[in-house]
Amino acid sequence: MPGIYHDVMSPEPRPRVSLRRVTHADRDAFLAMARLSLDLHRPWVTSPTTPEAFDRYLARFDGVRAIGHVLVLADALVGFVNLNDIGDDGAMIGFGVFAPAMGRGCMREGLDLALRLAFHDLGLPRVSADVQPSNVPCVRLLKGAGFTLHPGRSTVIHVGGADRLHERWSLAREEFFATSTP
Ligand SMILES: CC(C)(COP(=O)(O)OP(=O)(O)OC[C@H]1O[C@@H](n2cnc3c(N)ncnc32)[C@H](O)[C@@H]1OP(=O)(O)O)[C@@H](O)C(=O)NCCC(=O)NCCS
Repeated sequence: MPGIYHDVMSPEPRPRVSLRRVTHADRDAFLAMARLSLDLHRPWVTSPTTPEAFDRYLARFDGVRAIGHVLVLADALVGFVNLNDIGDDGAMIGFGVFAPAMGRGCMREGLDLALRLAFHDLGLPRVSADVQPSNVPCVRLLKGAGFTLHPGRSTVIHVGGADRLHERWSLAREEFFATSTP
């Protein structure tokens, strides 16, 4: 599997991923990738690894309050980016790359696509992420995208089998527009 990404991406310094809504047709490929990614995702996020868990995952996305996406590169699933708790105040974003595509810039690009969707298409005022402070790759990714830490907005979330402290990182629409290319 890594060879596929290598071949596709060799001529380009960056991948060219696309973002589309996750559907039931993605189930088998998603489960295969999520199982390969268990070590990468634990203890940061929980992804479905059984058909039943995938069906429950899919049911969360009503297209209004929550929208689930897969990241796609050359017809292969390389990750997911979800907008949750969508409302007047903005949305919470959750994401993960799948192990074969890790560290190749897919999520940097996928995050940018999701932010464009949130700010341009949905017109949301703010996108936030709750992140465990020790999740260095995620913090660097968010900082690189312009997110800033909101002191005093820490929260405890049950993930990876335990209650874990998370810090709130946020990006406002005007901050995104000020720095992003059209
Ligand atoms: C966080 C995560 C999505 C990053 O995915 P990725 O494929 O490595 O990211 P990219 O290749 O697009 O890199 C984007 C940026 O992430 C940061 N990054 C990626 N891997 C890193 C690492 N091992 N150490 C430090 N920073 C890292 C870098 O800032 C990088 O930008 P740079 O290349 O300009 O330095 C991935 O590690 C992951 O899925 N982790 C598990 C799930 C998770 O933590 N989700 C978020 C929960 S809030």
